[in-house]
Amino acid sequence: MDTRTKIALVTGGSRGLGRNSAIKIAEKGLDVIITYKSNKEEADKVVEEIQALGRKAIAYQLDTKDIKSFDAFVKNVGDHLEENTGSRNIDYLVNNAGTALYSPISEVTEEQLDDVVDIHFKGVFFLTQKFIPFMNDGGGIVNISSGLARFALPGSSVYGSIKAGVEMLTKYMAKELGSRKIKANVVAPGAIETDFGGGRTRDDKHMNEMVASITALGRAGLPDDIGGVVAFLCTEDARWINGQRIEASGGMFL
Ligand SMILES: NC(=O)c1ccc[n+]([C@@H]2O[C@H](COP(=O)([O-])OP(=O)(O)OC[C@H]3O[C@@H](n4cnc5c(N)ncnc54)[C@H](OP(=O)(O)O)[C@@H]3O)[C@@H](O)[C@H]2O)c1
Repeated sequence: MDTRTKIALVTGGSRGLGRNSAIKIAEKGLDVIITYKSNKEEADKVVEEIQALGRKAIAYQLDTKDIKSFDAFVKNVGDHLEENTGSRNIDYLVNNAGTALYSPISEVTEEQLDDVVDIHFKGVFFLTQKFIPFMNDGGGIVNISSGLARFALPGSSVYGSIKAGVEMLTKYMAKELGSRKIKANVVAPGAIETDFGGGRTRDDKHMNEMVASITALGRAGLPDDIGGVVAFLCTEDARWINGQRIEASGGMFL
């Protein structure tokens, strides 16, 4: 049995769902690498919180839109890991980083659409591509999608469609990496109370009530509802789950 401490990398680990996932993953006994885009202060707090759990953690700046920076990022992570573990490899990659776009089809600009594609699809695709040579066999990829890839709410055409693309991409990852026993799965959260989209699920009372009213469990989601699901997929207990979409939405639009 492989008793080595496993390592997970979580993009967008400074806040919201990524932060919660990183901490829950550390609670499962893994060491964690997180990335942030601009919020170093929040990222450093997450690192401290993980270290307080007795696990190793480090934060790197990464803009997942900036594909050209990925080679240097992967090299920096690899140098760090080689120095500290003797191997450049990670075990789990959680593609979580992202921003919201709410805009009706009639108003979406090309720039907005490109932005969503770059962050939520191209970034996920190429970051994964760059890490494939540096993932241990038997590890896993967790891509964060959204309930909006299953049901349509006005204003989320671009975001929901691109997340649906990530869900299909995940099946291809599962298929192509299966020979190395690397799993790939999707966690699709419902509307969760984070800073996402200006914090509207959390801070807009009407929005929060609307979400609660269409959710079987009767409330909007919290980061704590999601991180444990992601963390589970980064454990041996989840080793036979592959190419799947797990929606964690409390039962939205059932
Ligand atoms: N909250 C929801 O209702 C919900 C529902 C379904 C799916 N999701 C998905 O869940 C994921 C996380 O969302 P969240 O709610 O946790 O959002 P959040 O609270 O706004 O946090 C976003 C995280 O992503 C990072 N980030 C933003 N843009 C980035 C970029 N261009 N490159 C790299 N990192 C970037 C941020 O870094 P900084 O802290 O440095 O800014 C932060 O760590 C996203 O993929 C989102 O689409 C969210």
